Order: sequence, then C-alpha cells, then structure tokens
Amino acid sequence: MAISLFAKNKKGILNRCRDDYATKMRLKYAPYYHAMEFQKDTTVRLGGRDMIMLSSNDYLGLSFHPKVIEASTAATRKWGTSTNGARSSNGSRTFHVELEEKLAAFLGTEACHIHAAGYLSVMTSMATFAQKGDVILADKNLHSCLWDGIQISRATVERFSHNSPDDLRGVLSSSNSDAAKLLVVEGVYSMEGHIARLPELTEIGEEYGCFTVVDDAHGFGVLGRQGRGTTNHFGLHEKVDLICGSLSKSLASTGGYVAGTRDVIEYLRTNSKQTIFSAAISAGQAAAAMAALEVMQSEPQHLERLWANTKKYKAILKGLGLDIWESETPAVPIVLGSKERVYPFWKTLLDKGIFTVMSIAPAVPAGKDLVRTAISALHTDEQIEKIGEAMAFAAKKL
Ligand SMILES: Cc1ncc(COP(=O)(O)O)c(C=O)c1O
Repeated sequence: MAISLFAKNKKGILNRCRDDYATKMRLKYAPYYHAMEFQKDTTVRLGGRDMIMLSSNDYLGLSFHPKVIEASTAATRKWGTSTNGARSSNGSRTFHVELEEKLAAFLGTEACHIHAAGYLSVMTSMATFAQKGDVILADKNLHSCLWDGIQISRATVERFSHNSPDDLRGVLSSSNSDAAKLLVVEGVYSMEGHIARLPELTEIGEEYGCFTVVDDAHGFGVLGRQGRGTTNHFGLHEKVDLICGSLSKSLASTGGYVAGTRDVIEYLRTNSKQTIFSAAISAGQAAAAMAALEVMQSEPQHLERLWANTKKYKAILKGLGLDIWESETPAVPIVLGSKERVYPFWKTLLDKGIFTVMSIAPAVPAGKDLVRTAISALHTDEQIEKIGEAMAFAAKKL
C-alpha cells in the first residue's frame, strides 16, 4: 500500500516536470543556458561565432586581469581546489579571515563574513536577522534571493512601491508599531539600473527604528570612492546596519559577503544555517576577489573607463529612442513591454553578434519585459560602435 502511494506521488512529480509549460517554452526558444565555447574579455564564442558579451556583471572587467588570474592560480596551487567543509567546522582558512578583514576595511564596517555564493549571503541577511513577529519593509522590485530569505525568516512582509520614500512612509505609518522592523533595499537595482534613494529611505527608516539592510551586489565596484558602493556614494555608513552583496560582479570571482558591526556578524556566525551548514569559498575564488579588491584601489582607470563607456552607450540608446527605464548605472535595461517584443529584439541582437539576456514577467513587473544589458570597462570603442549598429537594426525591426 505504502509503496503504490509512493509510486503515484512520484509519477505526479515526474509528469509535472515533463508537462511544465515554462520549461517547454524555454526549450523551444532557447533564450537561456547558452554554453559558450570560449571567452576572452568581452568576446565570447557561441556556435563557432565570436560575439560581444553585453550582459556580464564583470563591470570593471577584472575577470581577465593578469594580477587576478595569477593570484587565483597561485592560491589554488597552494590550498587545493576546495575547502571541503563549512567555516564552522573544517573549512575555515586564514585567507578567508584576510579577505573578510580587507572587505570590512574597504566598506567601512567593523566585520564581514563571506559565503561561497552571493545568493547565500543575501538570502541569509534576511533569514538570519528577521524572525516571526518582525515586520520587513521591502521594495517591491527586490532580487529573488532577498524574497527567499524573507520567506524563510517567517516575518511579516510589507512591500512598498519601488524606490518610493513616500510609499515607505505610508506603509510604515500603518504597520504594527510594536514589532521590530527591517528595511531592505538594493543599492543598485540589478534589472532597472536605478540607484536606491538611500538618503530619504534611511531617514524614514531611522524615524521608525528600522534595522536597514542594503544588497549592494551591483553598487559595489561601481559607485562610491574607488567603488566602495552605494552607502559610500551617499556617505551613509552610519545609517545602514548591514551591507550584503556578491563577489561575482565587480570582484571578478564567485561568492558573497555580509558586512556590519562585530556583534551582528558574530550573531550571523552563530545563527545562520546558510553559514553554518554550507562549504566555505575555495582558495582560488577568495584570492581572485582579494586581488580584484587591490586592483580597484590601485588602478582607478577601470572605474573611469566603466563610466565613460556607460555614458557613450546610453547616448546611443537614447539617440535610438529606446526606453532604458531611467537607468543611472552600467546596468542598462531596454524595456520593450511584452515578451512578444522582447524575444525578436533579443534574437536580432544575437544574430548580429551581441549577447544579451531577456527578462520577462514575472521576473520583472508586468509591462516591463526587457532585454538586460550591462556595460563593462573592457568594452572597446569599436565594440560599442558595433553594439550601436546592432541596436539600430533591432530597433528598426520593432
Ligand atoms: C541584486 C543581487 N543580489 C544578489 C545576487 C546573487 O549573487 P550571486 O550571483 O553572486 O550568487 C544577484 C545576482 O545576480 C543580484 O543581482
């Protein structure tokens, strides 16, 4: 009896996988999971054809920097390929502590903890610090890792309109005044390229005693002095309790960080399941991030070039009348409004040798279906010119 019930359940799950509409559509149109055969800087090869990468988060272009490659290779030789365990047990090494101290100093916080994925760092920033009975004030357009963490925390969530201090105030004024409150935003919104209105948002948060969390995955390396991020950009260290983010964007690695006061980080080390039960970042990845952090401070030309390229690229898009959702950063969406318009636009760019990523609702708000592009310090003038030509061609076909 028990065996046949199990078989029935299993069949149901297997059928669900086989019949899933979204998966069928993904396999039919194949917009995702392209395995590139080669990459060097902003050039990738797909199906034997060289293309310009226009959706990488390698904003500063340090993934191919000789110092970063050398540091990562040397660390792998010295420490091996894996830590084979969690920091809390057998996986902790001196290079973890060194990177954490360097990141904390760079961000202007007392302490920092790193994880093997940015997703883990950001998710645990919600899951660990919020609990049942608390209220989380969340910008409607947050990244999926924050929503996952919010769900795990079992706190009550109150959403406010994207980047709207007025709406935040309205929501706060009618929320449970006795509950502990957390305010959560992204420093730079990954899809929209918007910079959080941190001065107004943190001022309101402070009035209501909110513990403020900023996911700065896309602000780190891009904004602030030497790329110290969104809180530095606004000079708001005192007002933000926790900065979390990723090592896989400007830091040319994989992994993530959570930075705050010593008390807060030690609490995380004791209570975060995502920290306690997940293997520590490998030596090669930690060394790459450490070297990239040093390059960010010693070679300002990458950040300068990133912004010069961004300016040039946005001028082209604006000239073509494309809607870039008022992006303020190198993350630049091209909003087309429906999947019927996004797919051919994306495909035309691909055919013209430009690799971008399409993002459709519910990954973005309804009516904001878009092609996500991101500019890098490594894009050459010639590449930007080619991108402009392809965009003009795709825009004409709309
Ligand atoms: C805003 C934001 N937070 C967190 C993450 C997770 O970082 P990672 O990809 O390094 O796991 C991402 C990834 O795209 C992101 O865009």
